[in-house]
Amino acid sequence: MLNTLIKRKKIKVGVIGLGYVGLPLTVEIANKGAKVIGFDINKKWVAQINNGISAINDVESSELRKFTQNKKIKATTDFRQLKLCDIILICVPTPVDENKEPDLKPVINSTEEIAKTLRKGQLVILKSTTYPETTEKVVLPILRESGLKVGRDFYLAFCPERIDPGNKRFGVVNTPTVIGGVTKKCTELATLFYTQFVSEVYPVSSPRAAEMTKLLENTFRNVNIALVNEFAQLCERMGGIDIWEVIEAAKSKPFGYMPFYPGPGVGGHCIPIDPYYLSWKAREYDFHTVFIELSARINEDMPYFVVSKIINALSKSGVCPSKAKVLLLGMAFKKDISDLRDSPAIKVYKIIKPRVGLIRYNDPYVTEMLIDNKKIKSVRLTSKELKKYDVAVILTDHSVYSYDFVIKHSRLIVDTRNAIKKKNPKVKKLGVG
Ligand SMILES: NC(=O)c1ccc[n+]([C@@H]2O[C@H](COP(=O)([O-])OP(=O)(O)OC[C@H]3O[C@@H](n4cnc5c(N)ncnc54)[C@H](O)[C@@H]3O)[C@@H](O)[C@H]2O)c1
Repeated sequence: MLNTLIKRKKIKVGVIGLGYVGLPLTVEIANKGAKVIGFDINKKWVAQINNGISAINDVESSELRKFTQNKKIKATTDFRQLKLCDIILICVPTPVDENKEPDLKPVINSTEEIAKTLRKGQLVILKSTTYPETTEKVVLPILRESGLKVGRDFYLAFCPERIDPGNKRFGVVNTPTVIGGVTKKCTELATLFYTQFVSEVYPVSSPRAAEMTKLLENTFRNVNIALVNEFAQLCERMGGIDIWEVIEAAKSKPFGYMPFYPGPGVGGHCIPIDPYYLSWKAREYDFHTVFIELSARINEDMPYFVVSKIINALSKSGVCPSKAKVLLLGMAFKKDISDLRDSPAIKVYKIIKPRVGLIRYNDPYVTEMLIDNKKIKSVRLTSKELKKYDVAVILTDHSVYSYDFVIKHSRLIVDTRNAIKKKNPKVKKLGVG
């Protein structure tokens, strides 16, 4: 019986998709004594994991190596080994296509692999962020083709992943896990499994409720970031009001307000993408998610707004923009991580490139990046290098940067993150007119 195996810590867990979500989860599960087989389609990545080398910020290679050496973690591209797993977690990407429509191919492919060897007693948990009804209308029908019955022969639940990469305070273990099983028994088993390695679980009545919970959380962030980005634009237009000062003042209210900060846009694999999953699904119900579309418009426009700000700042300082040398600081989509996916900094790079004389970047976490199939390397941040540029633009406020050093050696700075707190005539801040 699966519940006895879980209680006796005798389970073998399979994790499909060993990325930002799957790998930290694999390590936490192994940390609690279970054996984990990690499945991924990327052969190189699988070999790297088996050698104990992690490229994910939140997983130290030394920690991973501990588990690969004692065989608690093994990665493979051989999906036939799924039959060896009592519990299988699906952590594959859920991107949107060029028309911003959900692309569930990785989820479908993974489910088809599970279905090939599905056996009695297995619990399947979908973790990838997706629109409500995916678990019951996309995953379940594929698993049912095995002839097995959900809630009796096998179990299925949706448990959204809520990690925030780079967050040192909240991780897999101390962030409550929301659980929605297809049947009561499915929820019970998924809850029992999760209570073995996370500090708090929050069961809900169905997978749809759990799917919607995740989308509410991410849409909430998207909408609030858009709101504050609009306020930042208005502060610039009006002049004489500093959005950063205004946010600090609003924060002093002990209830009814939660701070969000403006910036060059939103990035990563969640905030800019997940709301599209919901608006796509809503259309099926003849419903238009107005907030989602409005916030996407504002947030996706921010890189253009930042580029205009840079061009204006250059012109005002007497430099002809088309001849200007521009240095971008921080390309990752948020501070202290290396993730470039959907980074607004990349958008800024692409928009400004044809409008200026020279463009370079520095990011301590991104030594090189691929833009339009061209490899571009990060420059070293030396005083000599900084002095070469007409403007340095802070796009991602990594903690390792010495902003005093940047101020000292730059002629002009555009700061989109309020990284520089002290007033300085060289510094032009986003949201300050
Ligand atoms: N990154 C985050 O901060 C975060 C947070 C919460 C939720 N999520 C969600 O979790 C899911 C995974 O995101 P991620 O950031 O870990 O993605 P990722 O791109 O970092 O990793 C996904 C991994 O899955 C592998 N993969 C792709 N297709 C596969 C397949 N068919 N079979 C097996 N492996 C496959 C890839 O090779 C890759 O290693 C997404 O739905 C995402 O929205 C992500």
